[in-house]
Amino acid sequence: MLGLRKGILAIALFAGIAASAQTRTHENFNRNWKFFLGDNDKAKESSFDDSKWRVLTLPHDWSIEGTFDEKNPAKPEGGGLPTGIAWYRKSFTIPANASSKDIAIEFDGIYRDSEVWVNGKYLGKRPNGYISFQYDVTRYLNFGGQNTIAIKVDNSLQPNSRWYSGSGIYRNVWLNTTSKTSVAHWGTFVSTPQVTKDKASVSIQTTIKNTSKGETAEVQSIVYNAKGKAVASVKTSDVVLNGALTELKQTLYVAHPELWSITNPKQYKVVTTIISKGQVQDTYETSFGIRYFNFDAANGFSLNGQPLKILGVCNHHDLGALGAAFNVRAAERQLEILKAMGCNALRTAHNPPAPELLGLCDKMGFLVMDEAFDMWKKKKTSKDYHKDFEEWHKADLEDMVKRDRNHPSIILWSVGNEIREQFDSTGIAITKELVKTVKALDTTRLVMSALTETIAEKNFIYQAGVLDIYGLNYNHKLYKDFPKNYPGQKFLATETTSALQTRGFYDTPPDTIRRWPRDGKTKLTEGNAEIAVSSYDNVSAYWGATHEETWKEVKKYPHVSGLFVWTGFDYLGEPTPYPWPARSSYFGIVDLAGFPKNAYYMYQSEWTNTPVLHLLPHWNWEKGKSIDVWAYYNNADEVELFLNGKSQGVKKKTGEDLHVEWKVNYEPGTLKAVSRKSGKIVLIREIKTAGAAAKIELSADRKNISSNGTDLSFITVKVLDAEGNLVPNADNLIKFNITGNGFIAGVDNGYQASMESFKVPYRKAFKGMCLAIIQSTEKSGKITLQASSEGLQSKSITVKSK
Ligand code: GAL
Repeated sequence: MLGLRKGILAIALFAGIAASAQTRTHENFNRNWKFFLGDNDKAKESSFDDSKWRVLTLPHDWSIEGTFDEKNPAKPEGGGLPTGIAWYRKSFTIPANASSKDIAIEFDGIYRDSEVWVNGKYLGKRPNGYISFQYDVTRYLNFGGQNTIAIKVDNSLQPNSRWYSGSGIYRNVWLNTTSKTSVAHWGTFVSTPQVTKDKASVSIQTTIKNTSKGETAEVQSIVYNAKGKAVASVKTSDVVLNGALTELKQTLYVAHPELWSITNPKQYKVVTTIISKGQVQDTYETSFGIRYFNFDAANGFSLNGQPLKILGVCNHHDLGALGAAFNVRAAERQLEILKAMGCNALRTAHNPPAPELLGLCDKMGFLVMDEAFDMWKKKKTSKDYHKDFEEWHKADLEDMVKRDRNHPSIILWSVGNEIREQFDSTGIAITKELVKTVKALDTTRLVMSALTETIAEKNFIYQAGVLDIYGLNYNHKLYKDFPKNYPGQKFLATETTSALQTRGFYDTPPDTIRRWPRDGKTKLTEGNAEIAVSSYDNVSAYWGATHEETWKEVKKYPHVSGLFVWTGFDYLGEPTPYPWPARSSYFGIVDLAGFPKNAYYMYQSEWTNTPVLHLLPHWNWEKGKSIDVWAYYNNADEVELFLNGKSQGVKKKTGEDLHVEWKVNYEPGTLKAVSRKSGKIVLIREIKTAGAAAKIELSADRKNISSNGTDLSFITVKVLDAEGNLVPNADNLIKFNITGNGFIAGVDNGYQASMESFKVPYRKAFKGMCLAIIQSTEKSGKITLQASSEGLQSKSITVKSK
């Protein structure tokens, strides 16, 4: 957060003022924690002997290390992994010369019901597993001596989630040191009320924490552009401090602002400097963006005056094989994969995300719908947050907004997803209160809720009359008449689709659209022994629709501001439509390992200008079988398909088509598609019938990583035949051996019903592919991963860590 370099730069502008050595520190507090899985009340005492406990580095999720079992109390919906109670402890020293400072320990997220003690003194409890919070620990510390922090995490009350939550201190922890007079926690709010090409006004609200009632301070705010050049500044002298939290408002102007957008996500920052008693007390940095946006009932969304369809996905917080344990590179990889698909927006379903994810969205150009809750007072699972809502919702909602309101990526605050109070008149009062709570802190974004009750008179959240936009989940057939039914209302498809696919698996022919399950009463009887779902886009949950069915409707109507497809990535838990051993979702456009399913290319062909020609399925079938061959394409007028050199015909998308298809009598050999524009070849794609599995191919998403102990290289493993073709049904067991300065952080193959551990150095291939995630240590050097499998030629790959 605070770059010390910048701090000094700002200080230099106050000629003649002494800078106290370091006014503020924001230190990573993740290393050297002790961990015990189980309960022991004595562990809160500082004298407790934890020498036998496991040593680990945060972020940490103990559930992902466990064994899948249908009987685990989180149930298959929760991912079927163990939960329970655990303790974390850490010893640390604070220098004696810090005794004049305030010291706080900040948690980005602990799942859930955390309780914290420092040197045996109780600091408090926080039920919400997704919220960030900090405790001021100054008065409990031994300055110049040893200190102990002990944390109990209780995820034993189950089930408490409709999806996999993870368990533990699964996000970063920070040690924050500030002067007695300093910017308060999340104490700045920077907005840009007026933006034109020539000039932007920047409004800065600063909350100054202080204990010196009646004293005065001088507060300077300097705006730097992306290149680090100071472009505007304002100084307020004689700010009278009130001995608690003093509020200050400043406005300045940036000439010819460079606007933040999804294609040019340029950010600015404000450096706030507080001077009192002739000393610099604090320098604090806030990143922000200059941009404006609008939702229009007739014409949808626009960013900086340009119409822009919101092309979003919903994602849960888990990172596949890494579980809930936050890793910035794993999150960045997800966003890179989505960006290449043309996705420009993310809904953080259904809770505030890790703060770094929002930083990535700011940097990479994603719009964000930041969501607070999946339930209010009425429960969705028996032990969920509904029991904490009454006591905690105000603090949780305020903390979300205060933490996140400087991110230019955020355009929408959602106060809840498919909340049960829609159907009950109690929804009116709660909606009013929540919206008011958000608006007291931020009026620059729209406040909304993702609704499902489609009859306006029966929807009590809508009836509250305070939502800025109507967010509708599913019901894509109602988009058309929305302007008629809700005159003047702004509209967004907050959740759509819930189509189902397993990467590389095909039921053919795909000529009927299937709803799995068929309705709310019938159990799935169709299904298949592989516990897989065909990845022709022809299966969805009954409340949803296929990718194509949905996108056709969203595309057609300008009043639909955009959509958030359920989901970008598969996630752990909620394995609709199958029962156990299915344990992760089938909804993703991308599988749990990060390998795109076919639908990815439909979106890419529609949402980008990247030339696309994607051919499916694979080409290993029984002779004589009639196979439906599909192609997604763009930037071309037509596609011609050849089997072993023989044309199967030229096809063109007409009307609303999003793909072309042929019926082909299977014979082994080469299937080839050629796309052409005005007679000229644009792209050629070939799929060959694969022979027996013969060798392994390894490829790294990045061959150079940072030796910071957290960076990752994702190694894709493919099982190939002797000619180098992917063997589409290969399920060989791949064993990994790693040497050098790295370790295997996880393995996966994207199969939704795999009972294999994510944390072992082997994995069966699924449909010819699997994944190994290499993590760096804090030592630079080479990391070599060797992959071997019985009967296959082994392969190794080397990644440099620096
Ligand atoms: C929605 C819900 C999501 C997820 C999805 C699955 O109704 O908001 O959280 O459960 O269904 O299709």
